[in-house]
Order: sequence, then structure tokens, then C-alpha cells
Amino acid sequence: MIRISDAYKDPEGRDKRCRGVEETLPEKDQRAEEKPVKVSSDEESLEDIYNEALLLAKEKIDSAASSARVIITEDDIEFLRKLFSTASESKNGFLEEYFYENTPGNYLYAHSVNVCMLSAAVVSRMIFNEDQVLRLALASFLHDTGMAGYMDIASAGRVLQKSEKKIIEKHASEASEVIKSIPSRERNFTEDIISVASQHHERFDGSGYPDNLEKDQINRLASIISVCDVYEALTHKRPWRGAYNPARAMEMVIAERDRGFSAGVVRVLVDTLTLYPRGSIVNLDDGRSARVVEVRPESPTSPSVEIIEDMPSGEEPEIIDLSREKLLTIESIPEKISRGGDD
Ligand SMILES: [Fe+2]
Ligand SMILES: [Fe+2]
Repeated sequence: MIRISDAYKDPEGRDKRCRGVEETLPEKDQRAEEKPVKVSSDEESLEDIYNEALLLAKEKIDSAASSARVIITEDDIEFLRKLFSTASESKNGFLEEYFYENTPGNYLYAHSVNVCMLSAAVVSRMIFNEDQVLRLALASFLHDTGMAGYMDIASAGRVLQKSEKKIIEKHASEASEVIKSIPSRERNFTEDIISVASQHHERFDGSGYPDNLEKDQINRLASIISVCDVYEALTHKRPWRGAYNPARAMEMVIAERDRGFSAGVVRVLVDTLTLYPRGSIVNLDDGRSARVVEVRPESPTSPSVEIIEDMPSGEEPEIIDLSREKLLTIESIPEKISRGGDD
């Protein structure tokens, strides 16, 4: 089985373009070790495509960092079309297996792929035409290429000062500087991608940047990317903070509906991931902590959970279906979460 980190280690095909770029491979992720070996060809192909997407993101972001220039080819467009349809059709397979993984090197690589694939999962539950969906695929994948030039500040490993945050905010509008060429499907195709990408930090109440746009002034595709962008960022470790618990991150996104985000997009995100996304840590009212392992659509607030406890070797942790345990409920959600690896 190829793991995400292996894609950096053993390049083939598209990876050849990344040769010569050395990555420090991470310590093996504890969670990854615990996962069952995947055997179905569908799942292998999902894994391959996720790894290929990471390499493409690395290629484009490294290009933006070294030459302030990203060129998208016809092959790239076809690949992103495939990535989007794979994410839409995988029935959350990528979310359950890859989305929350720690990945080596620059966090922007996995962030770009994850935001792109989550946008695909969300938009597949909405009504957009094929052309709009392709634009969303490109814009979501490229939305943070402008950040490539600011990673020295973003990776400082401490809470940034106001002045530093102000500098980093330039990355949104700099999408237009970095994204140089996309083969035209129609005259203004490239301009549309740049416009959508550059609006991903705009907020419905006008508090966003770079142009303080409000509600209807914000492109509908950009409003999808902004919600996926924040959920992805919250649920992953950053140099200055730990990863938020997925259920807590979902609460934070929901709290911003109608203020920062489109309420409609937030509702679709909740439909896609549920209130207690798989992997969330919850505190039960009997004092025990547990990890969400399954959520059934018919009982979205009563997931099945695995009790977190030190087990004697050979014994499996207890799994409880909360929808059948009327006297046991979720009492609270811890804010941060540790995910093994270098968390
Ligand atoms: Fe951004
Ligand atoms: Fe982002």
C-alpha cells in the first residue's frame, strides 16, 4: 500500500517533475499504523490520486515560491477534473482516510489538496453546471498559491503580530500575480479563476479581505472555498497552534453562518461531514472520553464511539452506539486534538 509520505519518497510519472526536491519524511503517524490495510481497487485508486494531487500541489506551490509564477497545463486541468470527480464520488472515502492525515513539508501542499477535495464533496450536493464546477476545481486548488512567498512568516512557530498578519493578507490578492497562464476554455477563463481564488478570505459581513466585499458581491464559488478553507485549516496543526477537534471546528464554522459565511454552504458542509465528523473526540457524561468512529444519517447527534482507554494487549477498546444507549450522551467536546506524528 502506498502511503501519503511514500509519494514523496518514490516518485513516478507526474512526480518526475518534482525530482531533486528533497523532503524530510515524517515519523510514521501512529494512526496510520492502526488503519486496516485497504484491498479494494477503488480505494487504491483513491489513494493514488490523492498522492498525485499532493505532488501537483507541491510542484505549483514550489514554483510560486521560487519564481512567483504558476503555469497550469491542459494535463493539470484534466487531472483536477479527475480529482474533483473522484472526491465527489468517493462517498467521503478521502475524508475518512486522508483528509486528517499529517503530511510532510510545507502544510500548504496538503491544505490545497484538502480544500480542493472538500470543495468537490460540498459542491456535489449543490446545483452548479459543469463549467462552474471546473472553475471551482482550479480556483480551490490554487487558492493559496499567493501564500508561497510568505511561508517564512507563516512558519515562524509563534502567534504572529498584527503587522505580520497584515503582510500575509496580501496573499489573497496576489493570486493575480502568481497565476500566470491557464489554457483558455473561453476568453476570461483565467481571470475568473483568479477572481474566485482572490476572494477566499472575503466574509459575508464585509469583515474579510482584500476588498471587504459583502454577501452578493462575493462570488458563489469563492463562498464555498472560504468555508472549506477555514474548516481544513482549523482541523490541522499549524506551526503556531495544535489541530482543533473536528467537532469543535464544525461548531466554530457553524457559529459564523450568516456572519462570515454563507449559511447555505455551511449547511451543506454539515450535511457532508455531520456535526461529529469521524475522528472527533467527545467527552461522555459518564466521564469517559471517546473517538467518533461512525455517524448514521438517521441519528446524526448520536454517533458510534470508541472509548479511549489503555487496553491490555490483545483486547479491543469498547465501541458504543450512542443511538442505542439512551442513558449515555455526549457532554462536551474538547477544543484541541492530538493526532500522533509531530502533533
Ligand atoms: Fe488563504
Ligand atoms: Fe487556504
